Amino acid sequence: MSFRVQDHYFKKAKKDNFLARSVYKLEEIDQKFKVISQGETVLDLGYHPGSWIQYTSRKVGDSGHVVGIDIRDINKKLLNIKNVTVFEKDIFDVTDLSTLGVDKPFDTVVSDMAPNTTGIRSVDQQRSFNLIEQVFYHLPVFLKDGGNFVIKVFDGHEAQVFLKSQKSIFKEFHFLKPKSTRSVSKEFFVIGKGFKKNEVQ
Ligand SMILES: C[S@@+](CC[C@H](N)C(=O)[O-])C[C@H]1O[C@@H](n2cnc3c(N)ncnc32)[C@H](O)[C@@H]1O
Repeated sequence: MSFRVQDHYFKKAKKDNFLARSVYKLEEIDQKFKVISQGETVLDLGYHPGSWIQYTSRKVGDSGHVVGIDIRDINKKLLNIKNVTVFEKDIFDVTDLSTLGVDKPFDTVVSDMAPNTTGIRSVDQQRSFNLIEQVFYHLPVFLKDGGNFVIKVFDGHEAQVFLKSQKSIFKEFHFLKPKSTRSVSKEFFVIGKGFKKNEVQ
């Protein structure tokens, strides 16, 4: 059953000229929770190959701007999109906005980051959790007060406890496992709307 799902979204992405099937996860999240609007600035953490960038750049339009970072080599296919800037960077090295060539926090931050997996469940869960912690730690720098946020999470006890502790920094806090996520996957997404910068400890 899961292969059929994979097949369907994989083929659909090819047909629709998207760089990855993960675009349908963001599309579903955005349709449901309205996280990205025209004219906005978006920071995409772990953008490679760039299907989320293709989606967000269209959604924000010419008056908006999308910045992507990834530890992988820059995907040259994205370089001709006018409202997009991509960087080859590790999230652990990005601590201020000037490194990203901007001077104002973003309207929306999205993260589809996933660590290199080892197959050892506890190690993979820990790596994934480190990424999540790092993103939340830097949110007050990256995200404007009132801004929106999407992050991929691999389920685990530590992640659940941590996310519970972060609920109060958003007006709305939602969890979603999009339809295009493979049924065997432990991933889900957290959607935060209305960032309350002053509540961050
Ligand atoms: C599932 S892919 C993202 C797919 C993307 N959303 C798309 O639509 O094409 C996850 C990405 O996270 C990136 N990543 C993992 N750890 C990272 C880190 N420490 N800093 C930056 N990017 C990272 C990986 O290199 C990988 O390209």
